[in-house]
Amino acid sequence: MAEHFYPLRVAEVVAETDDANSILFEVPEELASAFRFKAGQHLTLRADIGGEEVRRNYSLCVAPDSGELRVTVKRIAGGVFSNWVGDQLRPGDTIDVMTPHGSFTSDFDAGAERRYVGFAGGSGITPVISLIRTALAAEPKSRFTLFYGNRDAGSIIFLEALAALKDRYMGRFELYHFLSDEEGDVDLFNGMLDRETCADAIEHLVDAPQHVTAWFICGPGPMMDAAEAALLDKGVSKDRIHIERFTAGRPSAALAAQMAALQEEAAGQTMSVTLDGRTRRVEFSAGNILDSARDAGLPAPFACKAGVCATCRAKVTRGKVEMAARYGLTDEEIAAGYVLTCQSVPVGEGVAVDYDA
Ligand code: FES
Repeated sequence: MAEHFYPLRVAEVVAETDDANSILFEVPEELASAFRFKAGQHLTLRADIGGEEVRRNYSLCVAPDSGELRVTVKRIAGGVFSNWVGDQLRPGDTIDVMTPHGSFTSDFDAGAERRYVGFAGGSGITPVISLIRTALAAEPKSRFTLFYGNRDAGSIIFLEALAALKDRYMGRFELYHFLSDEEGDVDLFNGMLDRETCADAIEHLVDAPQHVTAWFICGPGPMMDAAEAALLDKGVSKDRIHIERFTAGRPSAALAAQMAALQEEAAGQTMSVTLDGRTRRVEFSAGNILDSARDAGLPAPFACKAGVCATCRAKVTRGKVEMAARYGLTDEEIAAGYVLTCQSVPVGEGVAVDYDA
């Protein structure tokens, strides 16, 4: 679908820690259904900062039935958007917000008795707490275990909210903090969530890992790789592991060279692009399908342009494309023919992609 940004008023900006802020948006009645979301999804925000359009994705930290639309933004060193939020954004300001999207989610069922486990690092807690809040409220017989890694106690986002959830859902929510720069009595909880620690946590703190319905992982890249590897080592099947990446790794030199060669070959070729019910012929004029479609005047949606957020997802309905990064897609989506158009180059004439599919 074409991108749909709506100007939303900021109701409040709340400091969660020294370097993380949550933004609560006001959603007018007529937009309530457009902004309905699923636990774990994110919003793309767009603002003019210093004369430049900047877009970023931030995860919703609340449950869908909370009646709130709230995201959490952690400052990163030199981060244009995150520091602008921390320094400049005030209640009453307006930001352009795209309707919620993302596949780091699950379908909850009130009658189900399930087991969920989350691995979160730093601001990676944001979509995970949305899932925790939802799972515990929507499925009264289900349980959630959270392994949460941070530098020190002062940098833990949602420290109190998580403690309150633990009190409220006693026996159904287990919470374990891992701190890299502080030392406590139990060795297991001292240090980063590296592969060995993740393996130990699964071994000692999750009974019957094979019965866990879904494992949710979100945090810094090395932590996510460590948690995933530890789960695969334990024989957990890939389709139960859900990973949400905020940033992409650098592509290998070999991949970059391969994509450059494909781009050169594809230059000037024609593609069909379907968007909002209309199909147009578009020339491959830029380095990828998304930019070529936008060059041709089509409002194809995007946010990260790094293969992470899947905002630019479309289905290949004819021909073949090659994709560089593909973090934002699940294996099922890839098998079904979906691609990230910001990462895709057509191979041969006559490729057709459909943003509506
Ligand atoms: S714009 Fe984010 S994956 Fe393409």
